[in-house]
Amino acid sequence: MPVKKLRAAVIGVGRLGRHHAAKYAASPDAELVAVADLSEPSARDVAARLGCRAVRDFHEVLGGVDVVSVVVPTERHREVAGACLEAGVHVLVEKPITRTVEEADALIALASSRGLQLAVGHVERYNPAFVAMRQALARPFFIESERLAEFQPRVTDIDVVLDLMIHDLDLVLSLVRSEVSQVIACGFQVLTRSIDIATAHIEFADGVVANLSASRVSQTPVRKLRAFGRDGYASADLQDARLREAHRADGAAITVEERAFPHADALQAEIAAFIAAVRGQSSEIVSGAEGRRALALALEVERRIAERLARLAPEAPGGRA
Ligand SMILES: NC(=O)c1ccc[n+]([C@@H]2O[C@H](COP(=O)([O-])OP(=O)(O)OC[C@H]3O[C@@H](n4cnc5c(N)ncnc54)[C@H](O)[C@@H]3O)[C@@H](O)[C@H]2O)c1
Repeated sequence: MPVKKLRAAVIGVGRLGRHHAAKYAASPDAELVAVADLSEPSARDVAARLGCRAVRDFHEVLGGVDVVSVVVPTERHREVAGACLEAGVHVLVEKPITRTVEEADALIALASSRGLQLAVGHVERYNPAFVAMRQALARPFFIESERLAEFQPRVTDIDVVLDLMIHDLDLVLSLVRSEVSQVIACGFQVLTRSIDIATAHIEFADGVVANLSASRVSQTPVRKLRAFGRDGYASADLQDARLREAHRADGAAITVEERAFPHADALQAEIAAFIAAVRGQSSEIVSGAEGRRALALALEVERRIAERLARLAPEAPGGRA
C-alpha cells in the first residue's frame, strides 16, 4: 500500500520560506496544502506558483496539516512554532531556534510533551561537503571556519553571530563530543546597527579548539570549514560543495583527494530528513536540543563581544553589541 503523503504548510514565505514551500511542493512524500504570510501578496504569489491555498493567519491551516515549516523572523519563532506544536503539528523551525534559551526550552518541552518532532533548520548539516567531511575525519582536534557574506541592505533583527556564525557553531558542536570550556570573542559593527563582523575562539574540555570568523559586509562570499585530526586534514568549501582531504600515508608522504558534489540540494535533504523523522523512519534531523545548544553558544559569543566592546576605549570601532 502506498504511504500517505504528509500534508504540509509553510508559515512565512519571505526570502527563505518560499524555498521551503517549493521543496514541499516538489517532494514525493508531501503535499503542500497552504502557505501563510502576514503579507497577503507574498502568500498569494507563492500559492499561485505552487498551486496551494494562501492565508494571512496561519491558525486557519493548523487543523488540516501534519507538518509545518516556520520561516518567520526569529523573534516570532517561539510564538508561531509554539502555536503549531500546541495544535499537534510537527515543526521544522528555521535557525536560530528562538531568540532566547528560555524560549527554546519552552518549544522543546511542548514538542516532547505532545510526542511531536521539532527540527531546526541548520541546513549546512546537509551540505554534502560537510557530510563527507564528517565521515572523513571523525574526531578533529582543531577546526577553523570562515563565513563571509556580501552586504544585503535588508532590515535584520539579529546580529552576524545569530545570523551567520551560528551555522558554524552548530557544525563545530556536531563534530566535537565535549563541553565548551572557554569562549573568547571580538566583533564590531560596520554598516548595520548591530555586530557585522565577529570572530570567536572556542575551547572544549577535551582539548579541541575551534576558531570561527563571520562577516556580513564582505566583498566576496566565502563559506569554508577546515578540520585537522591526528591522521589527516579536511577542507570543506561549503559554498561550492567541494571537499579536499589530505591524509598521512606511509613514511613522510601525504595523499590528497578532492571531491565535488555539484548537484546537491541541502534544503531538500533537510526537509526530506524532517519528513522521514515524522514518519518514524531513521533520519538525521537537527533536534530542538541541538538547536538550543547552538543558540546558547551563539549567545555566549554575543556576551563576550559585548563585554569586550564595553572594555574598549570609547573611540574604538564597535558600538553596540
Ligand atoms: N537556514 C538559513 O540559512 C537561513 C537563511 C536565511 C534566513 N533564515 C531564517 O529564516 C527566518 C526567516 O528569514 P527570511 O530572511 O526569510 O525573513 P523575511 O523577512 O524575508 O520573511 C519572513 C516572512 O515572515 C512573515 N511573517 C512574519 N510574522 C508572521 C506571522 N506571524 N505569520 C505569518 N507570516 C509572518 C513576513 O511577512 C515575511 O514575509 C529567520 O529566522 C532567519 O534567521 C535562515
